[in-house]
Amino acid sequence: MKRVKRDFLDLDALGVSLLRELLTNARALKGDRFLCSDALRGRTLVMVFEAPSTRTRVSFDIGMRSLGGDVVSLSAHDMQLYRGETPSDTARVLSLYADAILLRTDAPSRLRAMSEASRVSVINGLTRASHPCQVLADIMTFEERLGSIEGETLSYFGDGKNNVAATWLQAAGLFGLSLRIACPSSHSPDARLVSAARECGGDILVTDDPMEAARGSRAVMTDVWVSMDKDKGLEGSMTKPHNVLSPYRVDERVMEAASSDAIFMHCLPAHRGEEVTAGVIDGSRSAVWDEAENRLHAQKAVLLWCCGVDGLG
Ligand code: CP
Ligand code: NVA
Repeated sequence: MKRVKRDFLDLDALGVSLLRELLTNARALKGDRFLCSDALRGRTLVMVFEAPSTRTRVSFDIGMRSLGGDVVSLSAHDMQLYRGETPSDTARVLSLYADAILLRTDAPSRLRAMSEASRVSVINGLTRASHPCQVLADIMTFEERLGSIEGETLSYFGDGKNNVAATWLQAAGLFGLSLRIACPSSHSPDARLVSAARECGGDILVTDDPMEAARGSRAVMTDVWVSMDKDKGLEGSMTKPHNVLSPYRVDERVMEAASSDAIFMHCLPAHRGEEVTAGVIDGSRSAVWDEAENRLHAQKAVLLWCCGVDGLG
């Protein structure tokens, strides 16, 4: 019987029970690095990067190999994609060779096109709209440090339209989180995402007051002020000290207002002195290196699921 294609595109489409299963598997894989070391023998992951990556590229690459599989990692610049071949045609061809495809791209529509045309699983390696692989690893990190995330209070500082923030809105609906987003009104999150999170049971506060957002949070999160999709030409003006996001920098005062056991999270890469002070990201409450490590374990769980391996035994 033909296996149903398993795409890892967005947290809200995956649902909480599958995410719970992936988190359990990621923890088991972290506990034993040789677990499932032969499970994906003969399988190949093709990764296509239309934007730069360190963590996503290397964690999926090493993760796939440590499960016995193989990897082809491509920069879109070296492909016919760069000369206008469509994502659909590209996916149709790649899925004749590979067992799963990962795409990092600016446009969610390009990811959707690949998913629709591919005969094999497609993984969202980041778009400007979402970054589900990152948030899966971040939930794992939160739970390692502080226990179950269900019903917890977390806060996000900076650009409310950021892809990681948008994915946390989805997670808020799924896990019943109280999520506070501190941002200027010019950078408010998409109202439809906020409504969807609320309708699913998330308690969402969008505020321009950093202290209101920080109060009582058990995780304080931020991300770069300028995401990859906006890199071109903007960075200079955005990084001036008094730009509109600088009141939302995570500093010692913000961490002081958070819960006494609060951790700091950032997907990386970080810009010290912009979205976060060096004292916070390099301080004792920072969980950023655990987040980076957990990308590997979470990605291994995603790969096993995408390739149809359900039990880890
Ligand atoms: N956090 C993250 O996705 O990092 P990369 O851009 O290096 O993959
Ligand atoms: N959210 C940032 C960093 C992601 C790793 C971006 O999209 O550039």
